[in-house]
Amino acid sequence: MKKQKKILITALIVIVFAVYFIEGYISNHCLTVSSYETEYEQLPEEFDGFTIVNVADLHNALFGEGNSQLLEQIDKAQPDIVVLGGDMMSYGTVNFKRVFLLMEKLAEKYEVYYIFGNHEQNIRVANMLYVIQEAERMGINVMLNDSVAIERNGEKIMLHGLCQYKKSYRDPYYREPSYYEFSLEEMNEMLGSASDEYVDVLLAHNPLYFDIYSEWGADLVLSGHIHGGLWRIPVIDKGLVSPNEEIFPEYDAGEYIKNQAHLIVSRGLGGGSVIKPRLFNRPDLVVVTLTSGNPSN
Ligand SMILES: [Fe+2]
Repeated sequence: MKKQKKILITALIVIVFAVYFIEGYISNHCLTVSSYETEYEQLPEEFDGFTIVNVADLHNALFGEGNSQLLEQIDKAQPDIVVLGGDMMSYGTVNFKRVFLLMEKLAEKYEVYYIFGNHEQNIRVANMLYVIQEAERMGINVMLNDSVAIERNGEKIMLHGLCQYKKSYRDPYYREPSYYEFSLEEMNEMLGSASDEYVDVLLAHNPLYFDIYSEWGADLVLSGHIHGGLWRIPVIDKGLVSPNEEIFPEYDAGEYIKNQAHLIVSRGLGGGSVIKPRLFNRPDLVVVTLTSGNPSN
């Protein structure tokens, strides 16, 4: 009986480790695409079907040689613009070759807009300036609290790139206080007002303040940062923990709607490691298509 118990416990340990490593491998390497459609009555005809790809939280991950698999999936989506949604590298990165190669390939084909995540904000200042300089040399629009109008045949939508204070992330690793609340006043100081007339697309790495983004007047918010909760609980499909160590974070992945605003949170593409892999949480490329809901367009 004792021997049988020993065998059973050993078998259980082997199964747990096997799942951990096999699922860890899948969740760190097998790319998936999440597609969404968001509808706006006021969307001009020229933008019906306008497609945005969000490359979020890459953290230097590689999908095929030269990120060929990632590029292939982006090409398949036939985007009108590509967004680099923050944390393309990690705070300790000193070699940017891999990320720059991907950015260069994207910039050759697409209009690319880049917002910073907390990791870009935490790399050495000289490196941060280097990243900005290289991105701009490639023709990428680095949006550090900037707004631009995207125009098509005289019609337009607005694109806003938010770069919040580092303390907004409430990350205990950087000794950021957990009580900090981003406010509407700060948002207005950073970006000015949202437009009344046009569809306002907000790029905000951190989804934590969706209430504020919605109150500000965003129609579509593209976020990441939470990495899908790193480990997702199968069946209920809920993320376990956020980078600010919140258990079962509210905005962990997918689409959320508040008033007029749609928030789409990418589970991110990287952010796992051998010791702390993503689990049941495949790398996530987000594709969003804007529609007017008018079948005659
Ligand atoms: Fe982040």
